[in-house]
Amino acid sequence: EEKRRGAFSSRRVFILAAIGSAVGLGNIWRFPYVAYENGGGAFVIPYLVALLTAGIPFLLLDYGIGHKFRGSPPLSFARMRRGAEGIGWWQVGICAVIAIYYAAVLAWAVRYTFFSFNKSWGAKPGDFFIGEFLQTSEPGVSATPVAGVLIPLVVVWALVIGLLALGVQKGIGATAAVFIPILVLSFGALVVVALFLPGAGQGLEALFEPSWSALAEPSVWAAAFGQIFFSLSIGFGIMITYSSYVRRHTDMPGAGLVVGFSNSGFELLAGIGVFSALGFMAQDQGQEVGEVASSGVGLAFIAFPAIINEAPAGALIGVLFFASLVIAGLTSLISITEVVISAVRDKFELERVAATLVVALPMALVSVLFLGTTSGLHVLDIVDHFINQFGILLVAVVSMVVVVWGLKALPMLAAHLNDHTSVHIGLWWRALVGVVTPLALTYVLVDSFITDVQTPYGDPTAPFPTWMLAVFGWGSALAVIVVGFVLARLRWRDEATVD
Ligand code: PHE
Ligand code: NA
Repeated sequence: EEKRRGAFSSRRVFILAAIGSAVGLGNIWRFPYVAYENGGGAFVIPYLVALLTAGIPFLLLDYGIGHKFRGSPPLSFARMRRGAEGIGWWQVGICAVIAIYYAAVLAWAVRYTFFSFNKSWGAKPGDFFIGEFLQTSEPGVSATPVAGVLIPLVVVWALVIGLLALGVQKGIGATAAVFIPILVLSFGALVVVALFLPGAGQGLEALFEPSWSALAEPSVWAAAFGQIFFSLSIGFGIMITYSSYVRRHTDMPGAGLVVGFSNSGFELLAGIGVFSALGFMAQDQGQEVGEVASSGVGLAFIAFPAIINEAPAGALIGVLFFASLVIAGLTSLISITEVVISAVRDKFELERVAATLVVALPMALVSVLFLGTTSGLHVLDIVDHFINQFGILLVAVVSMVVVVWGLKALPMLAAHLNDHTSVHIGLWWRALVGVVTPLALTYVLVDSFITDVQTPYGDPTAPFPTWMLAVFGWGSALAVIVVGFVLARLRWRDEATVD
């Protein structure tokens, strides 16, 4: 069985791979701004509450499912109950969609690593990024290719396919074992350099200055739970897949604590690095930190190049920053793509290399077609927003409620986790996973659903065509559900796999 599906050689390698998946773009470009916007120093309270009451407990649920049922999400859910297989495929679909656009950000970061050496973005990084680099069209869909994006995108996919074809240990495990230490070093060096920039102190003050009144606002708590779910990548199949590759009789709860705290540690580190750099930018431009603070694509590809232009040792900062983005993103992209490969392998009994090609080549093709053109930024923007809100969060609530209340699997999973553990999984876990986490998730979900229905997503001064929001936004979130339940109707190559 282990021979057929592949396995990590040790618990340590699993932990590294799981950290590699968790630590991604979200830590670097999302967390610092979310913390800043939602109470600054005071955010530590909702954040820790979310981590301890929902993040880690839910992480352990994923670990329990994958480790006990030893399969990709569809196989694990089918083994729990035949009728639940569709939930697994729904998770697989979400992973496929995310991988398709996540790869594009990686491709941009690869280019920007090289741009850093001689600051190829010139004096106006914003115009350069949107115009010259991405050649962004009006909101809509275009078929005009952009060679400068398309080529690195093909390279990224070739690399991911090559690494995944090597298998669980030699591909996924070895990549994490090599690159996670490099990431810690490169990002650590970046933070140290950033701390010495003039103005760093103001940046840190702006980030850590606590606004205690924020604690009274529900939206701040929603932001904390949202960040934790996104950042730990829980509830959509990644951790089920990785823990299915861990040897039996392994201390999984202990591993979960290590992964959870490492991921949060990396977020804190990123907050310090990013806000030191933003403090420098504010001082340099004679503005408030609040006026220059940003997140996501704008932070990485517009604000950072501007900082790199002006900062002492700018080229060094640039290389460290973009190389860190590439590494953090690569290990996350590997993890989401593996979910799809693993599911297809389980269901159709394909060899590793065949399954990798059958799965990843079409994904790469779609990725190149939609993200390698002048409308790539628009597609990415919409799909990312909707799949995060109504893909990840929704499947997380639904799968959790089904496992807990439909299949009543918690006592069995707790017993499994307790078989070998350094932390006893008691009734507290069942209370958190059964009640607290689903309620918190439902709140966050309903809250963002109302927002999206009331105001169409996007920039009101350059709105997306309605059909585009319908197809790429709501459509992709819905399509993964439909496709998921269709795939669940197909027969297993070997029906005995499921029993
Ligand atoms: N957890 C990752 C992060 O914090 C994000 C991610 C999302 C990873 C989806 C894989 C899949 O950046
Ligand atoms: Na993360």
